[in-house]
Amino acid sequence: MSEIIILDHPLIQHKITLIRDKNTQMKEFRELVDELSNLISYEATREIELKEIEIETPIGKTKSKVISGKNIAVIAILRAGLGMVDGILKLIPPAKVGHIGMYRDPDTLTPVEYYAKLPSDIKDRKVIIVDPMLATGGTAVACIDYIKKCGTVDIKFMCLIAAPEGINMLQKYHPDVKIYAAALDDRLNSHGYIVPGLGDAGDRLFGTK
Ligand code: URA
Repeated sequence: MSEIIILDHPLIQHKITLIRDKNTQMKEFRELVDELSNLISYEATREIELKEIEIETPIGKTKSKVISGKNIAVIAILRAGLGMVDGILKLIPPAKVGHIGMYRDPDTLTPVEYYAKLPSDIKDRKVIIVDPMLATGGTAVACIDYIKKCGTVDIKFMCLIAAPEGINMLQKYHPDVKIYAAALDDRLNSHGYIVPGLGDAGDRLFGTK
């Protein structure tokens, strides 16, 4: 079963409250998505491997640890996932970035990939998939399917708000993928929006409503 990590740090809870508020305007909303992504990625990168190197402080020589590989890829699910990328790159500047776009087929209601541009060495990278809202989980599952087909084995999923329905879906189809979220909400409404959620993350990030 997928491990779910809900980050309940006071700073994160505070920012989640601000981002939920319908009176929070686009500029502040974007900044909050950026800051929350930065804070969540702190936890999502906890397992990065380190190596010991020798350095010299002004006082003397010592051994100290640095990140051993630069093999992380952040994959943004279009379009709202774009808002989370910079917040992560501030912590891990050498990470490569990929993009995946999915639409829902009107007949089968299954997600179909319409755009994918991933780092060429994706199979050797530790992947963090980002999408602010884990709602039904359909897109997340399809995106993970796609990345696994490329040969990638180490995949984490990072969102701001998750619904139980999305978590159940990920646990069913990809139990090996750890989920990081800042909040776990009550449910989905009949339109597939998370309740209480924050509304449409893409519209609020890009001002399209
Ligand atoms: N996507 C969103 O942007 N918001 C939701 O509540 C669910 C999916």
